[in-house]
Amino acid sequence: MIGSQNTLRAAVFLGLSVDGRIARPDGDLEWLISRGAAAGDAGFTPFLESVDALVMGRKTYEAIAPEEHWPYQDRPVHVISTTLTTDHDPRITVHRSPEAAVDALQRDGHQRVYVDGGETVRWFLAAELVDELTLSQVPVLIGDGPSLFGPLGGDVHLEHVRTAVLDGGMVQTTYRVAGGPMSPAAEQAGNRSPG
Ligand SMILES: NC(=O)c1ccc[n+]([C@@H]2O[C@H](COP(=O)([O-])OP(=O)(O)OC[C@H]3O[C@@H](n4cnc5c(N)ncnc54)[C@H](OP(=O)(O)O)[C@@H]3O)[C@@H](O)[C@H]2O)c1
Repeated sequence: MIGSQNTLRAAVFLGLSVDGRIARPDGDLEWLISRGAAAGDAGFTPFLESVDALVMGRKTYEAIAPEEHWPYQDRPVHVISTTLTTDHDPRITVHRSPEAAVDALQRDGHQRVYVDGGETVRWFLAAELVDELTLSQVPVLIGDGPSLFGPLGGDVHLEHVRTAVLDGGMVQTTYRVAGGPMSPAAEQAGNRSPG
């Protein structure tokens, strides 16, 4: 259960189409990668360095796992899945529910985690564990595929922190979840003029 003692905070860093899709129905991400390439790192490295660990849904893990480059440096990676075996991959720790993942992350002393995957991000938003969202929109409508957006069980109020237009027409906006604290790195970025 998510108790009042919870000190774990989550941050989101996601790329999406203008119509809010995070992948095509078959999982294809070429539409994002090809357009995002012009924006280079797009702030991913400082974002990764600002978190202690990652938690992601099984579908996101399965999209990353076959890639030659494991992008998460030495950060512990926790995967929520009812279907993967617990010894599936030595790079990850598998949890049967998001509650179990949160408990483990807290037990390990993590304070700020990167949460990834549409279904997974929505669970963390509904559980009021997300403080910060950085959403990078690439200029395309793809019409179908998993969405970042969906039922939440209530409104999540956001405060705009900054928007930057990156090369290739990527529009990157950071929001703070109203009432929540924010990492020093994002605060600093928010004090910069939009690029
Ligand atoms: N554009 C981007 O920046 C970006 C970022 C991340 C991912 N993606 C893409 O998005 C797609 C994945 O997103 P998604 O929304 O489909 O899925 P997801 O959140 O990555 O994974 C969903 C899976 O995680 C487990 N899970 C998540 N929440 C759960 C809960 N509350 N209770 C139990 N199990 C839970 C389940 O695994 P089991 O079925 O094993 O139980 C569920 O099927 C992939 O194609 C990926 O490449 C894109």
